[in-house]
Amino acid sequence: MGYYLESDLDIFNFDHQSEIAETNLQPFYHDSVNRIKLYNIDVFSFFHKIPDNCVDLVFADPPYFLSSGGITCRSGEKACVNKGSWDKLRPIQSVHYFNKKWLSEIKRILKPNGTTWVCGTFHNIFSVGYALQELNFKILNNIVWEKQDPPPNLTKKYFTHASEHLLWAAKTKKAKHTFNYQELRDISDEKLIKSVWKDLWTLPSVTKSEKIFGKHPTQKPEKIVKRVILASSNIGDLIFDPFCGSGTTGVVCKKLGRKFVGIDNEIKYLNIAKQRLIATGNNKNTRFFP
Ligand SMILES: C[S@@+](CC[C@H](N)C(=O)[O-])C[C@H]1O[C@@H](n2cnc3c(N)ncnc32)[C@H](O)[C@@H]1O
Repeated sequence: MGYYLESDLDIFNFDHQSEIAETNLQPFYHDSVNRIKLYNIDVFSFFHKIPDNCVDLVFADPPYFLSSGGITCRSGEKACVNKGSWDKLRPIQSVHYFNKKWLSEIKRILKPNGTTWVCGTFHNIFSVGYALQELNFKILNNIVWEKQDPPPNLTKKYFTHASEHLLWAAKTKKAKHTFNYQELRDISDEKLIKSVWKDLWTLPSVTKSEKIFGKHPTQKPEKIVKRVILASSNIGDLIFDPFCGSGTTGVVCKKLGRKFVGIDNEIKYLNIAKQRLIATGNNKNTRFFP
């Protein structure tokens, strides 16, 4: 398709460090031992550099476009709901244009049996689901994350928002996707196993210890990402996160022995990601349950 230059092919090459200098794009952070790279770039500029059919799994936590100037509750106090200019409320046509554009690139770069996860709330998830279907992905699951500790709704005009969605989709209807049934079984205790097998995951929000290097306004809890990565990828697989923020996906990949490439266009978030990655132990057998 001519989307990328020959010299950019090494973006996902972890083995020849000298070649990286030949690309126009330097990684913001590169851990050659654990095969982890972060890039500071806009997602659409980056896609042009990625070859077709090269990624095993995508975990995407894109902008939900919910920052409308409304109020929420943070640490018991009224606070503005806004996450950043990247999350500003837009007309639904613009949200859908954005989602279809980046998801069509994900379709191209996934290996034939690859899958993608996409997070969202009602603000973006219907558009994401529609785009996935327009692009002939096969939707495998719609996971509902029930937050154990949601902030109360201070407006007294709505039910408390206590859930998010994670859509899981295969590149094509024919794809033989990875689902590590036995591995999930082996690491689950009896109490937890019920929750692992359902598409309703009741889990707490991100813990304070995951924020010691700084706060990202929409950081995902490691527990959720670990369940995703363990279930749908294998050791040594290449995982790509096009909106990696504070690097939660990378931290989990490092713990679980997966290769990782993450990008974000805000350097302040990549600085948090880098510190988190450096602080993460090198023990690839790290387990997370419960
Ligand atoms: C929902 S947050 C991801 C949070 C992440 N999962 C974590 O645990 O920290 C979305 C991220 O996408 C980034 N972003 C938004 N638009 C982008 C774009 N066009 N290209 C690259 N990154 C973008 C934002 O800076 C933000 O950090």
